[in-house]
Amino acid sequence: MRMYDLIKHKRDGRELSDEEIRYFVRGYADGTVPEYQASALAMAIFYQGMSSRETATLTMEMAGSGDMVDLSPIEGIKVDKHSTGGVGDKTSIAVVPIVASCGVRVAKMSGRGLGHTGGTLDKLESIPGCSVDIDEERFFKIVNEVGCAIIGQTANLVPADKKLYALRDVTATVDSIPLIASSIMSKKIASGADAIVLDVKCGSGAFMKSADQAIELSQAMVAIGEKVGRSTVALVSDMDQPLGAKVGNALEVIEAIDVLHEDAPTDLFETCIELAANMLTLANAGTLEQCRALAREKVASGAAFEKLCEMVTAQGGDSSVLRDPSRFQQASLTRVVRAPRTGYVSKMNTELVGTAAAALGAGRETLDAAVDFSAGIDLARKTGDAVEQGEAIATLFSSSEERLDQGERLLLEAYEFGDEPVESRPHFLARVSKDGIEKLA
Ligand code: URA
Repeated sequence: MRMYDLIKHKRDGRELSDEEIRYFVRGYADGTVPEYQASALAMAIFYQGMSSRETATLTMEMAGSGDMVDLSPIEGIKVDKHSTGGVGDKTSIAVVPIVASCGVRVAKMSGRGLGHTGGTLDKLESIPGCSVDIDEERFFKIVNEVGCAIIGQTANLVPADKKLYALRDVTATVDSIPLIASSIMSKKIASGADAIVLDVKCGSGAFMKSADQAIELSQAMVAIGEKVGRSTVALVSDMDQPLGAKVGNALEVIEAIDVLHEDAPTDLFETCIELAANMLTLANAGTLEQCRALAREKVASGAAFEKLCEMVTAQGGDSSVLRDPSRFQQASLTRVVRAPRTGYVSKMNTELVGTAAAALGAGRETLDAAVDFSAGIDLARKTGDAVEQGEAIATLFSSSEERLDQGERLLLEAYEFGDEPVESRPHFLARVSKDGIEKLA
């Protein structure tokens, strides 16, 4: 077999055989397939796409390129959730304890923030003492005893994807549906859960800009999950504006706590309930309607908040900070950003809001850069809201005037104002499962 022939087959629109895909993934992972041939193949896939069989084979080959986590020491059905990435997306920190407080175990491996999107691990580390660097034995013990844990991915989880993702990032081949689907699903499958709920974001802050693209990506991922025996559901949700009001690490943990105290913005609260309910129903805890009611009940009773405190304590964190969020690290400087005109917020460029938060210190340019836990943005106005000239639209938190200047400039660029009220679109656009697509908007 020769890489040259594989590239030519795909370039000419032919389906690759399972053996050809295996040859590519193994050769690329062990370094015998050079970067230039891997990038040519990625570009051919970008243009010609892949069949569902090819995408599933690519996924399983990548999943098997490193550790396959065996969660069998953890009792019961294990469910996982994954978001395709967005701004202000702190749902895992609320959803994981909600699901665990309903009696379903969650053994979650999460990632760090990069570019304009935040990462759950950075958010958790803003809680003093909370560690995400936990070995497998302790991870299993915490999940068995507490019901949930959120840790970092092991270094050898899907090494083929690490390499391929880095290559796609510099060869303009990230936004290909079969490549995104296989990248995400290979990590979810290698992480070992029995069932997976995917939160597929769509809009100005997401990879998928349109609902149709997001639905297509969802279908591809659900098909892969079901094919390999993992019950999979995808919810397509809006990322045309940030989720909730807070963007930044400690700020987002505080807003996740607000969810567990029934005191969060509606879009965020309802997203958390819907994700939790879908996870619970995949774990056979009841119908979707029953699971929504169960999730709401555990939040209202305070059980879900107590579960978050237990999880944080088990991971070495100081849960008294969760009970008194004023004790989170505070930014040394704040600045109020004011509306340049009277009218309505007509549109938000969500990616720019994320870039503004990163410029304030909440994000990182490279994976090993440090983040400022206290930096971020608290949005007072979002799409559809009325504003008066000079009124506060957001508060910025940072450690230097220079960063505040940059953050303010980017944030003002992210807002568009108009004279007429606009309707913001519903938050959930579709639910995709093995039974088909249910359009929700
Ligand atoms: N997230 C991933 O893990 N992979 C992609 O390709 C895109 C988003």
